[in-house]
Amino acid sequence: MKGNLLKKLSACVLCAAMTCSASPCTAFAVPNLNTTAAKLASSDDVVFSTDFEDGDASKFSKRGDTDTSILKVIEDDKAPSGSKVLSITGRDQSWNGPSLAVKGILEPNVKYDISVKVKAAWYNTVCVSLQHTPGGASEPQYTNLVKGVSQGDYVELTASFAYGAEEKDVSLYVETWGEANDLCIDDFTITLSPNNMDPNAPSLKDVYGGMFKFGTATTVSEIAPKSTQDLICKHFNSLTAGNELKPENVLDRAACLALAEDGDDTNPQVTLETAKPILEFARKNHISMRGHVLVWHQQTPMWFFKENYDPDGEWVSKEKMLKRMENYIKNVFAAIKKDYSDIDFYAWDVVNECFTDYGKPRAAGFPAEENNYESSPWVKIFGDNSFIKPAFEFAKKYAPEGCKLYYNDFNEYMDKSDAIVTLTKEINSDGHYIDGIGMQSHLNVTNNGEPTPFPSVGMYRNALEKFSKTGLDIQITELDATVNNKKFDLQADYYSDIMDAIVDYKDYVSAVVVWGTTDDQSWRADRDPLLFNKDYSVKPCFESIVDGIEYVPSTDPVTDPVTDPVTDPVTEPVTDPIMIWGDANCDSNVDMADVVMVMQASLNPAKYGINGTSEDHITKTGEAAADVDDNAGLTVNDALVIQKYTLKLLAKPFIPTNE
Ligand code: GLA
Repeated sequence: MKGNLLKKLSACVLCAAMTCSASPCTAFAVPNLNTTAAKLASSDDVVFSTDFEDGDASKFSKRGDTDTSILKVIEDDKAPSGSKVLSITGRDQSWNGPSLAVKGILEPNVKYDISVKVKAAWYNTVCVSLQHTPGGASEPQYTNLVKGVSQGDYVELTASFAYGAEEKDVSLYVETWGEANDLCIDDFTITLSPNNMDPNAPSLKDVYGGMFKFGTATTVSEIAPKSTQDLICKHFNSLTAGNELKPENVLDRAACLALAEDGDDTNPQVTLETAKPILEFARKNHISMRGHVLVWHQQTPMWFFKENYDPDGEWVSKEKMLKRMENYIKNVFAAIKKDYSDIDFYAWDVVNECFTDYGKPRAAGFPAEENNYESSPWVKIFGDNSFIKPAFEFAKKYAPEGCKLYYNDFNEYMDKSDAIVTLTKEINSDGHYIDGIGMQSHLNVTNNGEPTPFPSVGMYRNALEKFSKTGLDIQITELDATVNNKKFDLQADYYSDIMDAIVDYKDYVSAVVVWGTTDDQSWRADRDPLLFNKDYSVKPCFESIVDGIEYVPSTDPVTDPVTDPVTDPVTEPVTDPIMIWGDANCDSNVDMADVVMVMQASLNPAKYGINGTSEDHITKTGEAAADVDDNAGLTVNDALVIQKYTLKLLAKPFIPTNE
């Protein structure tokens, strides 16, 4: 199950495991990029390594003028190798420490593994981080790559990382999370991360191409290596930005404040600068995108909800927040139209995670450690979940034609599934605003270490069944399945059963998206939840989900995408007929003709059912639209409910599931 705290931290912490090959003294060389393919790390792959035995630490410096650190090579009888280490004393701040500028040592767009042994003088959390300034940004970003605990002993920290060609001032550094106590480091080694991608493995997007899109989520740092880009191009035809299109990255506070100074604090300004590398990549490779996410309690800054955009200010009124919400949604769609109209944004998560596991609205407040990051500022302002409907109305108003709009949630196979169904019925009770349900699908193969999956495949199937009955589209939006102790055979069986279930509902599912590509980059990296290993080789769960499916392999080249939008325009998305509750004949009206059609389809399915022989048989969308009572399947009772609605005896043309 999801831990929201873990989720928050994992957004920037990447974990990885590797074996380190240290060489006896400082050595660095610009890597030969042609050597990266299909081999394990060897001494040839070492691009920088020092154990400080030659007394040279000239490549390392403190972190800027205000850093008080003193760096010196010293003898240490605890040195993990040889007798010398680099000592760092005089640190004043936890971010003070030894830094290695990568210029002249590393290349952009290459995946590297770093290993370093770190000792804190007494108990402390030690961390290897990357400082990097994205193209177009003026302020650096700091990405924590890996952390560990030292209790006066050496702890080995290992991680993978890469940076993009457009990034400036890139450096690796060691810091602490607690006090600024003295540090020592030794055996600092950077190697090329091995690439064992199998060019002959079947492509996921081909295997499932006849059924639904197969996508992945990525982040700017994950997508930096060319090798990761190659893997994504080979297997996926849908891309979700893992963080970069969330409000915290899209809202432009400086521009918001400037406009507020001029008297308008209801028109939040946006920027797509953070997402740019992902958007450019999707455009260049003609990969469709799922937008994620417009309205969410997490990863949305506090100031967005406050007077004068001041995080310490008063909460704004409901009326003002509605205006901000409308303009935010409008501005996001406008920004995409302006700069990326050639990308097929075929889906957007409009609202994310509004229910507790029991199907109730969240508590009011700002998500923080003391509420386990579960409280919602939207509920704080609106008092309940009544902000969801306007969010969909605004999104429908401003989204481009063909872009489908989703309500997305986790633990969607638990009690909250009924609340989700009721929500979608209510939202669409007077129009068609919501197109589909996003099943996040963060699953677990082992549960508390036991080989008992959670959810069971049966629970997951039940959720698919329930959502398919709404007549709305379903997308699997964030699939991953954790496993303890590398029990990859169990994971393969579970993934295969889950995909079998999804395939059984393929008529209702338009996309399956895994939440990340290689295990080392996952937000749940400690339990290996994805389809590919860190070195891009396929895992047993990849093999189990492609096994036995007949498909037509595409002839597309694996890489080298066509980049000319004129000669190869983006295909227009196909729009499904719109479903309106009660509208069995899909003519956009709910009237007696629908009542008659439901009677016919339920009493004589051979003739009027979805596969019926009559030309006037009900369609799949019509059947879903007409399934309006609280029992699954079409019966005379559904006709009765619709009739009552046409006679104005019911306010809505359906019975909400929990009434
Ligand atoms: C949720 C969100 C995602 C992401 C994951 C954890 O499922 O919808 O955007 O934050 O948590 O990484």
